[in-house]
Amino acid sequence: MEEPIIGDVFGEMIRDAYAVRTGIGPRPLAGGRLPRPVVEVIERDDGLINGAPADHYLDEPSLWQPHDHRALRLCRGAVLDVGCGAGRTAVELQRRGMAVTGLDTSVGAIEVARARGLRDTVIADVHTYASRATARYDTFLLLGNNLGLLEGPERAPAFLAALAELARPGARIIAHGTDPYGTTDPLHADYHRRNRERGRLGGQLRLRLRYRRMATEWFDYLVCSVDELKQLLEGTGWRIKSIDEQDRPYYLAVMELHS
Ligand SMILES: C[S@@+](CC[C@H](N)C(=O)[O-])C[C@H]1O[C@@H](n2cnc3c(N)ncnc32)[C@H](O)[C@@H]1O
Repeated sequence: MEEPIIGDVFGEMIRDAYAVRTGIGPRPLAGGRLPRPVVEVIERDDGLINGAPADHYLDEPSLWQPHDHRALRLCRGAVLDVGCGAGRTAVELQRRGMAVTGLDTSVGAIEVARARGLRDTVIADVHTYASRATARYDTFLLLGNNLGLLEGPERAPAFLAALAELARPGARIIAHGTDPYGTTDPLHADYHRRNRERGRLGGQLRLRLRYRRMATEWFDYLVCSVDELKQLLEGTGWRIKSIDEQDRPYYLAVMELHS
């Protein structure tokens, strides 16, 4: 049996989703004729597989969740949209006349974001960008559950330090997170328990993405409670400024840099 090819899974998927939506680029077809839906497949290290339509990464503001709108209203100054994907939120900020840079590790996602009109883009992770960038930012936006990019207690301090390097005084992170612990599904509750037994946070997910013959490497993606987030911030210079829990279990955390 052949193993999947390691590559830009998110990019391949979003290019196809963009082609289906716009007719730009080759569309994925079933049997060479019928449009094939583009599905994001996420594997968890306990064997769980989840699939969800990828098209929402291209949604216009009229279809967004209310917390996305509230997050954009909190943006000020120069914004770095971290893990901007297909430019869903960055393009809208740009439309509103704000200075916004979209950063993503996925070449394909940035290609689609640029095709949708996003002018200022960076293909890198925050560490690489912080080591070479001269630009500084007032707002770091982590939407679409991208608080997950903190990964977990071991790697969060370095991620937050990279953002601090890129920060202007008084800069803020606006991040969308999800409290995982309201679930009654034993599949998830057992996973949280087993994670804790291994010394990990309950919602420190070990995932990989799949699309067609491709896979990403396995990576950690953090789904944590507000209390866990507060603990992760200790000693980093970032402090919680406010938490918006109107759309539970989702929340928007605003963190401010105190040097
Ligand atoms: C869940 S999607 C969210 C996309 C977008 N923020 C939105 O709300 O539509 C996660 C995005 O983060 C990007 N990503 C994953 N790891 C990253 C990293 N270490 N640094 C920057 N971007 C990353 C992925 O390529 C993907 O575009």
